[in-house]
Amino acid sequence: MAIEYRLLGRTGVQVSNLCLGAMMFGMRTEPDDSYAIVDRAIERGINFIDTANVYSRGVSETITGDALVRNGKRDRIVLATKFHGAMADDDPNMRGASRRHIIKACEASLERLKTDYIDLYQIHRPRSDTAIDETLRALDDLITAGKVRYIGTSTFAAWQLVESLWAAERLGLNRFICEQQPYNLLDRRVERELMPMAETYGFATIPWSPLGGGLLTGKYQRGQEPPSGTRFSSPNAMQRRRFNDRIFDVIEGLEPLAAKHDVPLSQYTLAWVMAQRGVTSPIIGPRTMAQLDDNLDAADVALDDEDFSAVDEVIPPGQMVAPFYEADFGPHRFRV
Ligand SMILES: NC(=O)c1ccc[n+]([C@@H]2O[C@H](COP(=O)([O-])OP(=O)(O)OC[C@H]3O[C@@H](n4cnc5c(N)ncnc54)[C@H](OP(=O)(O)O)[C@@H]3O)[C@@H](O)[C@H]2O)c1
Repeated sequence: MAIEYRLLGRTGVQVSNLCLGAMMFGMRTEPDDSYAIVDRAIERGINFIDTANVYSRGVSETITGDALVRNGKRDRIVLATKFHGAMADDDPNMRGASRRHIIKACEASLERLKTDYIDLYQIHRPRSDTAIDETLRALDDLITAGKVRYIGTSTFAAWQLVESLWAAERLGLNRFICEQQPYNLLDRRVERELMPMAETYGFATIPWSPLGGGLLTGKYQRGQEPPSGTRFSSPNAMQRRRFNDRIFDVIEGLEPLAAKHDVPLSQYTLAWVMAQRGVTSPIIGPRTMAQLDDNLDAADVALDDEDFSAVDEVIPPGQMVAPFYEADFGPHRFRV
């Protein structure tokens, strides 16, 4: 299974079965290295890139846009970005899901990305203090204005997506076509409801943190400090909850399975996410060129039913040992 192309849900758009995530660009990867990573990914068949306005407060989008200007490949790429995260500390309206913010945020992203359209514009988190009809109407207007092609979500609950479908249908608005969900072998909770819902209603799914932020690469060892320079070497509170002892039961259970295929744990665990029913394109987040090459090689790792059963013994379907989301799953205050 080399890099192949899959339909982005019910749209007619074909995307590579790995998506290049740009979260490290400008945060832990220098611009020149980021440009080289984008070029190599495209050379190796990637046509799908994901960023967000909030990644390094615009710097990731700027670097991504510059990379596509430099290599002249903008029109070959399905370019995804997001809004919702806080873009200023001193202005409560520079965040969220209001019409006011969405239109401003979109204009700013287009400028940083140096393009006149975004292929997939995603709301970064559900937002219970804003009616979904307000958000959908603003996004629908951006589609009509030609600034956005498709709209998507990230880290929504299944019921919130179904609610958004009711609203879109009732109001005659474009619907969300893709959900970006946290999914990896340390957190399989999305299998309980989100994945069956996505398949039922034709959502593409593009999992984030498919390697658990690097925990599933084999470089962390039980009882040892994280190697310096790695993401978990200076953990924040959220990462500390993920870097717990239970993850090593899973890591140590998976290592022999990867060894049977003679591939690194990183490729085995990424190949597992790629192979799951309903998954369109996991988003990889390489910090270095070597990591990119390793991640792309996962496309050549073929897992079979024996692998899937053995993995289920190590971490059963629907289970979680490290939490990758704590989103706003409260009821909407306003219903359409
Ligand atoms: N929607 C959301 O809320 C959300 C949240 C998170 C991410 N995302 C998206 O998903 C993308 C991927 O997320 P992620 O970065 O968390 O994905 P990930 O693939 O789970 O983790 C990537 C990290 O793992 C380490 N790594 C990768 N390959 C490695 C290898 N071969 N050997 C050793 N270490 C390796 C690197 O961290 P080190 O620094 O330790 O080397 C790398 O930055 C992001 O770029 C972003 O586009 C979305």
